[in-house]
Amino acid sequence: MSTRATPPDQVTTRSPQPLPWRLDCHVAAGDDAAAADELRRALTARRPWLPARWFYDDAGCDLFVRITDLAEYYQTRTEQALLDQHMDALVRAHGLTELVEIGSGAARKTRAILDAMESAGTLNRFIPFDISPGAVAASAADIASAYPGTRVHGVAGDFSRHLSRIPRRPADGRRMVAFLGGTIGNLDPPRRRTMMRRLARLLRPGDCLLLGTDLAHDPEVLVRAYDDSEGVTAEFNRNIIRHINHAYAGDADPDAFAHVARWNARASRIEMHLRARRDIEWNIAGLGVVVPVEAGSTIRTEISCKFTADSVRAMYEDAGLVLADWHEDPQGRYALSVATRA
Ligand code: SAH
Ligand code: TRP
Repeated sequence: MSTRATPPDQVTTRSPQPLPWRLDCHVAAGDDAAAADELRRALTARRPWLPARWFYDDAGCDLFVRITDLAEYYQTRTEQALLDQHMDALVRAHGLTELVEIGSGAARKTRAILDAMESAGTLNRFIPFDISPGAVAASAADIASAYPGTRVHGVAGDFSRHLSRIPRRPADGRRMVAFLGGTIGNLDPPRRRTMMRRLARLLRPGDCLLLGTDLAHDPEVLVRAYDDSEGVTAEFNRNIIRHINHAYAGDADPDAFAHVARWNARASRIEMHLRARRDIEWNIAGLGVVVPVEAGSTIRTEISCKFTADSVRAMYEDAGLVLADWHEDPQGRYALSVATRA
């Protein structure tokens, strides 16, 4: 699908029509050799683990939206409040014309950024990027119709492999690259470092990076955010088994696994595991592996690192970026920060 702007002679007193949106897809379920290799290696490692991208099929994306509505998951509403408070000033200070959002998911909080750009009269383009083609398509369609006149160019890809497929910005524009939801904390230190450098490469002089980071604080509050009373997070965690079963003809019963979330103080991170309730032989025909999981043993599914102002600043410096703005909530639980090229 191509994007075509409304010819100028049709732009009269009526509000502009929604423009056609476009979607570039660099991922395909089940037939991506690199993803299959990574998964095979992870499951046959001495300490088996699962790459987090497998959480996010359509069902997983829906479950994640339910997580963001949970009382215990303070991160989303805290980040939303910080965006509502600070975006107008940021948009004006940086003269922003386009938003690139990495791991955009349902792109709900995104609207606070787009609204600020629209009211400044500078909004030109939105580029959502996510591993889930369904999520990118749905959010691209929603945003295109809610912001008529805005070009929407969705990209479905893996942020550790396909960031270079993001279109360049026009020479006269100013881009914000947003990476929200604390997703940077889901990468271990080496991957995080590579990711920050790749994000920095999406910025030209004058552009900026907007990063959402969860902060290290009360471990009890943190653990509850990842082990809620309604069991939505547990269901989200088990959905990773379901997704892999579906993609590669696997046979494990998701309910044979219990959800575990714990605080690792030394590494300043929450760790999520699936613990086998009984002995399991997980036959994954499409990958050609049988994974034996002993009763009581665990498969690690996610880490979520928690930061401090100093650790965020160091992360920027390493990527050749400088911290330009720091906003945290009054309880010091979550921070939104902005960085520019050094
Ligand atoms: N930005 C949203 C969603 C955060 S959840 C929010 O703040 O609420 C993390 C998002 O990153 C999900 O939408 C997931 O599909 C996406 N994601 C996870 N791994 C990814 C990868 N390797 N490449 C691209 N997107 C990924
Ligand atoms: N980026 C989110 C976070 O670390 C991802 C997340 C939230 C998550 N809840 C989860 C991942 C539960 C796995 C399981 O906060």
